[in-house]
Amino acid sequence: MKTDAAPFRLEDYRAPAFTIDTVDLNFVLAPKATRVTATLAIRPNTDEAAQGRLELVGDETVLKGLKLDGVALPAERYTATPQLLVIEGAPNAPFTLEIETEIDADANTKLMGLYRSSGTYCTQCEAEGFRRITYFLDRPDVLAVYTTRIEATKADAPVLLANGNPVESGDIPGTDRHFAVWHDPFPKPSYLFAMVAGDLGVIKDSFRTMSGREVELRIYCEHGKEARCGYAMDALKRSMKWDEDVFGLEYDLDIFVIVAVSDFNMGAMENKGLNIFNDKYVLADPDTATDADYANVEGVIAHEYFHNWTGNRITCRDWFQLCLKEGLTVFRDQEFSSDMRSRAVKRIADVRTLQARQFPEDGGPLAHPVRPEIYHEISNFYTPTVYEKGAEVVRMLKTILGPEDFRKGMDLYFERHDGEAATVEDFVSSFADAAGVDLSQFMLWYSQAGTPQIVAKGQYDEDAKTYRLSLTQTVPATPGQSQKRPMHTPIRFGLMGPNGEDMGFSDVEGGRVEDGVIHLTEANQTLTFSGVGARPVPSLLRGFSAPVRLAIDISTADLLFQVRADSDPFNRWQAAQTLAMRNLIAGTAEQVAGRAPAVEPALIEALGEILDNERLEPAFRAQVLQLPSEADIAREIGRDVDPDAISAARRALRGAIARGLEDRLQRRYAALSEDGAAYAPDAGSAGRRALRNTVLDLLLATGTSAAIDQALRHYDGAHNMTDRLAAVGALSQAGLPERRQLLDAFHDRYAGDALVLDKWLMLEATVPAPETLDRVRELLRHPSYQANNPNRIRALVGSFAAANQTQFNRADGAGYDFLADFALDLDKRNPQTTSRILVSFRSWRALEPGRRARAESALRRIAAAEGLSPDTQDIVTRTLA
Ligand code: TRP
Ligand code: ZN
Repeated sequence: MKTDAAPFRLEDYRAPAFTIDTVDLNFVLAPKATRVTATLAIRPNTDEAAQGRLELVGDETVLKGLKLDGVALPAERYTATPQLLVIEGAPNAPFTLEIETEIDADANTKLMGLYRSSGTYCTQCEAEGFRRITYFLDRPDVLAVYTTRIEATKADAPVLLANGNPVESGDIPGTDRHFAVWHDPFPKPSYLFAMVAGDLGVIKDSFRTMSGREVELRIYCEHGKEARCGYAMDALKRSMKWDEDVFGLEYDLDIFVIVAVSDFNMGAMENKGLNIFNDKYVLADPDTATDADYANVEGVIAHEYFHNWTGNRITCRDWFQLCLKEGLTVFRDQEFSSDMRSRAVKRIADVRTLQARQFPEDGGPLAHPVRPEIYHEISNFYTPTVYEKGAEVVRMLKTILGPEDFRKGMDLYFERHDGEAATVEDFVSSFADAAGVDLSQFMLWYSQAGTPQIVAKGQYDEDAKTYRLSLTQTVPATPGQSQKRPMHTPIRFGLMGPNGEDMGFSDVEGGRVEDGVIHLTEANQTLTFSGVGARPVPSLLRGFSAPVRLAIDISTADLLFQVRADSDPFNRWQAAQTLAMRNLIAGTAEQVAGRAPAVEPALIEALGEILDNERLEPAFRAQVLQLPSEADIAREIGRDVDPDAISAARRALRGAIARGLEDRLQRRYAALSEDGAAYAPDAGSAGRRALRNTVLDLLLATGTSAAIDQALRHYDGAHNMTDRLAAVGALSQAGLPERRQLLDAFHDRYAGDALVLDKWLMLEATVPAPETLDRVRELLRHPSYQANNPNRIRALVGSFAAANQTQFNRADGAGYDFLADFALDLDKRNPQTTSRILVSFRSWRALEPGRRARAESALRRIAAAEGLSPDTQDIVTRTLA
């Protein structure tokens, strides 16, 4: 029996008894024993302080000295364990505490707190890493002004960085050491603290803010990689400008610094004035980064920059409010990318991610509300629900209020809460007050987990010229929540007339309909539109106006009409996906029954028309031609999932489409070839590459030797990473033996370039062939693999578990056993990365009985292991519950 620590509950929130106004840190860096002196100005904050008990948390923290108001504390006044420092008889008046700790940064494989990445000292404090540096009130509602002094040998660490503005630096006379002091005038929670010291390359630029202040911009990276930082710098300047233009938000320090490191648990971190990035979201050049990488760099740079206002200036009162900064900031970065690129294509990509990552979470054992109410381990709540569904909730607010009132609400939020640690209630009240509306029902989106199911039925009365649309919404039961209430759900829509244009109507009864949006608020609602001239084809949930599943009784003919004519590009894409999905689900059933699946010729024809429709942007056409993934199909089927049958059905449909459109695909491929053109990362160029590479991938589904030769030539003729990777990827995904020569050539071409070799590891791990599991095992011992680097781990093992449906879900359970063994080993070194990878088990109950039993026994084996980290214990326990 394990003893579980008590969970944290939202309802238990109490303000801290003491608070901290200023923090003075002195880091004396040394590889095995860094000394940190933290001088804290502490004062009583609530009546509870009168009891004199001050509790500061730690995590593997080693105490070396302790002084209160300058006097060493006698042993009987305090107790210190690695997790907790308790001081009895703390003054009920302001006082100073000086804490000295010692850290072995080299031994820190958890990558939380102070650690070293390729020799560079760096920190990661969100969510609870600061306590690994010093004992602290490590909670986001304690806001302090930080001054950081760093001292190191000049040779090891010529660059010394911390939050805020630089105030002083110099040599330490008579030694080989130097120091720097940084001061951050903006009060911040400890999770936003950062410090970096090392020998790094840099690129510099500057930005003039809207009020005319000049801000120095710097991006630091490994020496030799400076030339790959240019796009990130460009994205940063565009982000700064966009936040001024769209939200009126200006940067507030004299300098903004980004540091790219190669060992990082997540994507990037918004530390005040000193963002630290996983280098895969900074470095990009045409030879090593794909168009998708460029888009990700742009999006993550923007995301972290936007946190300066949504997260840093206004932070979270407690970690239950995580979506307050993350959902809002994702919404902001999505809007930025939509403005920089194609809005329609960005929306389709974002919805694909939401459906691929958040929907399965919401439909499985790990489901939780956008604002969770209970947690054991907060780092397991940096989830698609908090981030992506959290962004959808903000998007719905904008849809419900309209753009003007939405902006007024944002302005009021900044006006009211700048400098504070706020809650979701504070955020939503700003909109309710600015727009003068009641958003109490809308708040349910934050508290009710589960993806709502909306069922729509339409009926046209030819004589009365009325159209009745009945809508029902149900929110499924989720862990800890059996009863749900109907939510305020905005459904953007149009009634398509026979010529494809939206028809008007004279009146509507049964609910609020405004500016093309149905405000669904009841469990059952029937809307009657009058004055509708002809039978409409209902185009519902345009732009995916709410994160719901929509089931609508609509014929194949009407869906084909939508593919051809819907004025909303998202729904055009959605209609094609729905048609394909119907075919794929039927095809899967045929596979299971051992029969040959039938393919709808009209679907093939409609896809052919999209392929050749020059009025549509190429990136959009590429999205329409990309069928739902195997995981998408599994999610739609929802029970007794057989990944082999799904894979076979998908291959069959792709084969039929490719054969049916072969000539047109060839012509399109030729028309899109731009030999000799220099690479440009803009959305238009990327879109043309995306369409050409999608065409190549489809052509390979014919399985002909001509198509294979074409893929080999595509590789040889490629003059950028996007095209090169597309060729290897297509051959690998098709499981064709010719993949070997390209995979090896790709590896050799990029030997020594870790970020590119991650792409190679990912390709190897996702080959849908029985030999892949052995190959993954072999690659764990490959010199290019690094057992403690999260990027390598995610590229090889993470993508095997998350993106190789047939091989992770092998019928013999060997994929599950492999992941369990791997996780048990990695958990000792990096619990956060371990628990993230184990999320791949989240849909185990939806599998057919044989696989379900094997997945369950692998999970039980992990759960039974001694000494599991809290992270892994939490994920496995909830997954099994
Ligand atoms: N706040 C980061 C973001 O912008 C997330 C993050 C970075 C993080 N590193 C982390 C969260 C480590 C938990 C642990 O989304
Ligand atoms: Zn974020």
